[in-house]
Amino acid sequence: MTKQSGTQLWTLLLQSVTLVTLVCAQVDKRNCSIDHSGLPSDACTFDLRMRGAQPKQSDQYYCTGYSVSRDILGSNTDGYILRYEAIADAGTAHHILVFGCEQLEHDKDSMWSCGKVCVGDQIIFAWAKNADPLTLPKDVGQHIGKGTSINFIVVQIHYVVPLQSPDTSGIRLYTTQQRQKYISGIYLLLSYGVSIPPDTEKVHIDSACTFDWEDSIIPIGYRTHAHSLGKVISGYKVHNGVYEMIGKGNPQWPQAFYPVTSHVEINPGDVLAARCTFSSIGRHRKTEIGATANDEMCNFYIMYYMNATLENNRGRGECLGNSVPLLFDSIPADSDTPLPPNPALEDVAMGHHHHSLNGENKEESEKDDTALKQSIPNPVTKPQSEHPHDQGKLHNLGATMDPAFSLKFDGEVGGMKIGQVGGLAVNGNGDLYIFHRGDIVWNSLSFDDENRYTLQNRPIEVDSIVIVDRNGTLKRSFAKNWFFMPHGLTVDSDGNMYVTDVALHQVFRILPSGDKVDMTLGMRFEPGSDNDHFCKPTDVAVLKNGDFFVSDGYCNNRILKFNKNGYVVSSFGSSSTKMGLDGYPPPSTFFLPHGLTLAEDKGQLCVADRENGRIQCFALDGTFIRQIHPPQFGRAVYALEYSPNHNGLLFAVNGPDVGVNMPDTEGFTIDINTGNLLAVWNRPSGGLMHPHDLAVDDRDHVVYVGELNPSKVWKFKMDQTMYSALPQVSVDNNSNTVATTAANTIIVSSNSGKNTNGSLNSNKDLNGANSKPNVGNKVAGNVNNIDLTHTAAGNKGLAGAKDHATSADQANDLPKTESIDTEDGMGASLIIGALLVVPVLILIVITILVRLYHTVSHLGTRGLP
Ligand SMILES: *[C@@H]1O[C@H](CO)[C@@H](O)[C@H](O)[C@H]1NC(C)=O
Ligand SMILES: *[C@@H]1O[C@H](CO)[C@@H](O)[C@H](O)[C@H]1NC(C)=O
Ligand SMILES: *[C@@H]1O[C@H](CO)[C@@H](O)[C@H](O)[C@H]1NC(C)=O
Ligand SMILES: *[C@@H]1O[C@H](CO)[C@@H](O)[C@H](O)[C@H]1NC(C)=O
Ligand SMILES: *[C@@H]1O[C@H](CO)[C@@H](O)[C@H](O)[C@H]1NC(C)=O
Repeated sequence: MTKQSGTQLWTLLLQSVTLVTLVCAQVDKRNCSIDHSGLPSDACTFDLRMRGAQPKQSDQYYCTGYSVSRDILGSNTDGYILRYEAIADAGTAHHILVFGCEQLEHDKDSMWSCGKVCVGDQIIFAWAKNADPLTLPKDVGQHIGKGTSINFIVVQIHYVVPLQSPDTSGIRLYTTQQRQKYISGIYLLLSYGVSIPPDTEKVHIDSACTFDWEDSIIPIGYRTHAHSLGKVISGYKVHNGVYEMIGKGNPQWPQAFYPVTSHVEINPGDVLAARCTFSSIGRHRKTEIGATANDEMCNFYIMYYMNATLENNRGRGECLGNSVPLLFDSIPADSDTPLPPNPALEDVAMGHHHHSLNGENKEESEKDDTALKQSIPNPVTKPQSEHPHDQGKLHNLGATMDPAFSLKFDGEVGGMKIGQVGGLAVNGNGDLYIFHRGDIVWNSLSFDDENRYTLQNRPIEVDSIVIVDRNGTLKRSFAKNWFFMPHGLTVDSDGNMYVTDVALHQVFRILPSGDKVDMTLGMRFEPGSDNDHFCKPTDVAVLKNGDFFVSDGYCNNRILKFNKNGYVVSSFGSSSTKMGLDGYPPPSTFFLPHGLTLAEDKGQLCVADRENGRIQCFALDGTFIRQIHPPQFGRAVYALEYSPNHNGLLFAVNGPDVGVNMPDTEGFTIDINTGNLLAVWNRPSGGLMHPHDLAVDDRDHVVYVGELNPSKVWKFKMDQTMYSALPQVSVDNNSNTVATTAANTIIVSSNSGKNTNGSLNSNKDLNGANSKPNVGNKVAGNVNNIDLTHTAAGNKGLAGAKDHATSADQANDLPKTESIDTEDGMGASLIIGALLVVPVLILIVITILVRLYHTVSHLGTRGLP
């Protein structure tokens, strides 16, 4: 071998080594060019992202892991987490848990379905929809890496719905290498080995331990966890018999850490105590503490900080069961008093156990799945919302607002005793029809995990349809023992009533006399999503020719069109998890279509797309026309009603919201031709609380609003200016009023001016009724897929009592495969990597052999030194 060829080989080798280095070297995936204000100068971020998860069913869990030293700290051995920030879309990720792990049992570059999270798992952070980032107090950090038991971090995402494309949501960690004066940690109180008796109003499960560490801890956050029977969980420090509250949580609220608001210092010798209160009314079996959805849990997490120098002197961060039973004799009496209702937070019983995108099982009076914007205070909150939805939401009265379109409050209707108001309608005589729930209240036990109504032997024992005249005087009432959970009500021009019952999953047409149902659609108590089933249908809108639309509903995001004989002629609408640039999902997708109204003179059907916080209007064949979502709507739109007055108005009500910078619950007047908001109106003193439906009496210039809570119907009158400027209204006795929209009576000059006749001719659309029903494949399959009740009872007791992977929330409908393939692109890069590495390695080996041969031959000629 010549010297020249040797040099060439060396060059080659060098190149190969460079290549190998390029291929194999750790790329620092951190971002250290961040805004360091409030953070140490060396702080970097690392994104714990899901590696392209693509759930095929509702309610799937995915886990993925990262190495602390290799990934998160960019090859440093240890460091501190200072801040957690979600990089997630609330419509996609229901909640995210971050676990510290000793070891992974899965390849850290893989994803798996979270049956087991990891070895030595401990929750270090929890995020639920739209919670603000969590910044630990100054000088406090979560220590990770060498010298701690956290060598890996696993991020677990609970996906709400199937996804069309791979998801990379996750959590952004802010870390520093600088040693922190204080370290944070989690102390967990939990119970096991006990059971909850059936049908019992109040059951306490307690846990308490003496805190026997060498130094004090200061709680900064707490998190509660139970399943559907859990009502309230309270945690205390007890010193010399004196109770000091650490936190009290409603386990049905989102699974985040909530701030500890008072300064509590837990010193060695104090007792830590937690009481979980359950109600098992309606559950006719014993419930164990365990891991599956059939079981219950009783967990109280304390996020604390302590002096970092004592890090390794920490005791066990777990209190199992109750080692101080007597203590609870003197627990504060209010420890089992539930927290006041917080409608927007109370979604999670649903969200958490058997919600789906479609909001099935959503308890209307209280639970609002997407309501969590601004609502989850993590310790050290940032009041700014990051949701496009929320921007500038607060009463930025648009230029289109016109006081003439505001409504004046005119008192309560009737004063009769009614229950939660499901639906309202007005007939051509100005009679008001009220569809109410008597003493039945929709709560988290009303439906099981398969959307089946649980109180099937308990119809509403009072007349659930009440008719009053325009003066509020009772005319008649009926439908005793007919219905279970009244929802929508519509009266057609002949006086027929169309009602939906979400418990029965049925739609009924009742003759004007009120003594007979002449059409029943859907199967009694059977949820479903084909042409013969509904799943909690919400509302009906009837065309003059008797054909009608049904919005279906809580668990199917579709609108069905029926001919007057009750046969499905078409359907449209689907679920979506995508967000457009406007912060709203694509047109023609719904998240709980909750109310319908027809503007037949405009050829339009408008839908209250409740959980998307918008109104969508369609041509009668389902062609999308426009969506309406002024910022004043806020989170949710519950109901809407059309009036042909003034060339076409929509009246609407939104849903309750919480938190700062959220709009009020109120009523809206909208120009149907332009979608412009014309006015916002409300009830004085208290305002609207939880409006559920509204109805318009055109002739009397009245709008009625029915509320769930309080169970009342309110009357609003159109303003005098509006009144006097009204176009001539021709009323044909029994029909809904038909206004002549003569151009000279229009007092609002609509900006667009075009399209006043509606974009489609309704006759044409009706003729298109032959279009094939397209139902089954459009429905998010949550009805059949979720089968939590049939999950095999898992390991009870201790192992099952810890909220590992919120395991009870995980249906055993997880895919059987343990590991989920990573995204295609990733596989490809691995293959490319392998293709590159193998020849390079071969080259290196050859080169070394050649060099060796060279050296040996040298040695051969020169002899040993
Ligand atoms: C790093 O973070 C900053 C601030 O968030 C951002 O502007 C920048 O684009 C990020 N750099 C990379 C490489 O991601
Ligand atoms: C932490 O504990 C050490 C030893 O007890 C003490 O010297 C130090 O002042 C403490 N540090 C803080 C920040 O409290
Ligand atoms: C309503 O009350 C007004 C005034 O009291 C009365 O003139 C009218 O006849 C009443 N209407 C009905 C339908 O009872
Ligand atoms: C109006 O009422 C009369 C008498 O009740 C009835 O005969 C007629 O059909 C009704 N007209 C319409 C359009 O409903
Ligand atoms: C609206 O409909 C009326 C009656 O059908 C028709 O005469 C008129 O030209 C239409 N206007 C527009 C703008 O299409």
